[in-house]
Amino acid sequence: MSTSRRDPQDVDASLDWGRMSVMEAIGHVAVIGAGSMGSGIAQLAAAAGHEAHLVDVVDGAASAALARIASSLGQATDRGRISRDAAADALARVHVESRLEDLPECGLVIEAIREDLEVKRRLFAELAALQAPTTVLASNTSSLDIGAIASAVHDPERVIGLHFFNPPTVMRLVEIIHSDASARPVLDHVTSLMRAWGKTPVHCSSTPGFIVNRVARPFYGEAQRMLEAGVADAATLDACLREAGFRMGPLELTDFIGQDVNLAVGTSVWEQTGRDERYAPTALQQRLVADGHLGRKSGEGIYRYAGGAGPQDASPDEGRMAELVGGPITTDPVARTVAMLVNEALDLVHRGEASAADVDLAMTLGTNYPRGPIAWGREIGHDVIHAQLVELDAAFPGGRYRPSPALSATV
Ligand code: NAI
Repeated sequence: MSTSRRDPQDVDASLDWGRMSVMEAIGHVAVIGAGSMGSGIAQLAAAAGHEAHLVDVVDGAASAALARIASSLGQATDRGRISRDAAADALARVHVESRLEDLPECGLVIEAIREDLEVKRRLFAELAALQAPTTVLASNTSSLDIGAIASAVHDPERVIGLHFFNPPTVMRLVEIIHSDASARPVLDHVTSLMRAWGKTPVHCSSTPGFIVNRVARPFYGEAQRMLEAGVADAATLDACLREAGFRMGPLELTDFIGQDVNLAVGTSVWEQTGRDERYAPTALQQRLVADGHLGRKSGEGIYRYAGGAGPQDASPDEGRMAELVGGPITTDPVARTVAMLVNEALDLVHRGEASAADVDLAMTLGTNYPRGPIAWGREIGHDVIHAQLVELDAAFPGGRYRPSPALSATV
């Protein structure tokens, strides 16, 4: 941990952010890791007007990213989203660097390398030594603790999480994550910067899964459990959720994301919460991954796909849908899922990890939910949700359905 923590006010004064625009104050931006996220983030920074510098350990990876950025800007031009001149200027602002030592002084460095805590910690220690003490160091990690990354540098107040969604050029949401050490002025200025980049920032403490990847867990988990229990077939369960306003059903969505990717995120949250039953992976999903049924990308997951087409076995049973929705809570795919989403969201707010407004914003922008779970819970009534969870807890004991203290307090 830090031995010489600076006063957050010093960080602010040394950055001289009061007198110029946040974009000018940040100046050059470096992105480390030129994979799918890194190239999108570099494009975003360059399009916003920064000189953006890309570095990757693998020879040729940053140049390949530059080619992807050129093609993506070309598509944006064809669609009329950006003028030809603006696209050419943005591309000219992206620079490929071979080594961290070649980077100029940057106001912000965003790390988007592979998800490995020790590798990220080593990188942050190197960056802290090479860059000015005022450089903000941000990680795009989707699952690692920002405090654990920050403690690798001697001034952890300048380390934050900056969690973009895929693809970063399209998705408006960005989660700004603070550790216990992150300095307020750093968070405030990065918040202004994200707004200047056209993003919608939300704030969260470094809790497992942050907002979106935490609150969304039951959306996948409940449908998998109902499928395992034989409540209905996948197409019928998915259709119930689509009818309730979700853009995709939870089962087809996990096929789209990749069962392996979805399982890895869920398992990471489960491990980091001390194997809380609420996040326990299902046997169904573990078996799918073990069998190589990863979803669309492998041609089979929960559904079967042929030649890039949609699911082949996806006709919902409308009679069964009518029996389930509005029926007992244990077999109502919509009420059961929504009750769990509301519980999860209220719990996050109750623990002080994010505000109610940010949770609703994150879930509507990051996952396209038809309503924010906090507002949805208020609409349904906390007493109703509490009673539903008590019933689920009695039917499926073990802690998964325990109501949050935030709910229990309202009844
Ligand atoms: P990726 O595998 O596409 O790219 C990672 C890149 O980092 C590779 O080009 C690799 O050569 C490079 N790299 C690895 N170690 C390095 C090092 N020490 N120094 C420099 N470059 C290094 O990965 P992706 O998907 O872009 O993810 C990057 C980060 O973003 C991860 O932390 C991931 O959890 C996070 N993330 C990913 C999302 C996604 O949907 N793919 C969404 C949000 C966050």
